[in-house]
Amino acid sequence: MRLMSNNFEYGYDAVDTYVESLFLKNDAVLEKTITSIQKSGMPQISVYPNLGHFLSLLVKISKSKRILEIGTLGGYSAIWLARALPEDGTLVTLERQENYADTARANIEEAGMKEKVDIRIGDALAILKSMIKSEEAPFDLMFLDAHKPSYKQYLNHALSLSRPGSIIVADNVIFSEDVIEPKENDEMASGIHQFNQAIAKHPKLDATILPLVSKKGLDGIALALIK
Ligand code: SAH
Ligand code: DHB
Ligand code: MG
Repeated sequence: MRLMSNNFEYGYDAVDTYVESLFLKNDAVLEKTITSIQKSGMPQISVYPNLGHFLSLLVKISKSKRILEIGTLGGYSAIWLARALPEDGTLVTLERQENYADTARANIEEAGMKEKVDIRIGDALAILKSMIKSEEAPFDLMFLDAHKPSYKQYLNHALSLSRPGSIIVADNVIFSEDVIEPKENDEMASGIHQFNQAIAKHPKLDATILPLVSKKGLDGIALALIK
């Protein structure tokens, strides 16, 4: 299925750049974080700057003190999230790749956020299971951004680590138009579509998706409030 994209005078890039130029200041630490990700050959899939800013606003609006992030990469979104926390706030962030976690740790330290961020290395599903087993305190906000086919499982675990009023945010829920009508063998698109269906019909969730445009094209984030 082809979506009508860029069917206007300015492209997605221009829209993204316009918002950046209005609301974003130069930020040496975040720029260095992006450079470190490029230099170390990690995938360049950090949230884009306007979305990082949006996430930080969600943290402040919800007065979150405990955040869970699934998928750290180089720590770019972690820095946005951690900066929005109060002094006594905590971000627990999960990353499978030890070398990515090393890069993230250095970037988070550079950002002065070391005290607030707890990077846990390993498979997210395994870590989540052990967190549930050890009855870890609920999180106020959970940001899902790791392995796309596992999103539905992340959701179920996140629900076990939540309280009424907690927020679940998920990145890349419209990462491609294929999400709308996934092909049978497309694990990523069908994983995301199943996640989207799950949050839509879950009796404990009040959820929606915000479609987004950026330099990276079309995408969307899901927002769900636990009843
Ligand atoms: N949130 C980051 C981007 C995360 S990219 C940011 O915006 O800055 C997705 C990350 O999830 C990658 O670093 C990848 O290594 C990690 N990941 C993928 N599968 C995982 C798994 N099963 N367990 C833990 N981390 C995983
Ligand atoms: C991919 C993952 C992401 O989290 C993202 O924001 C963009 C792309 C990916 O795995 O391709
Ligand atoms: Mg993402």
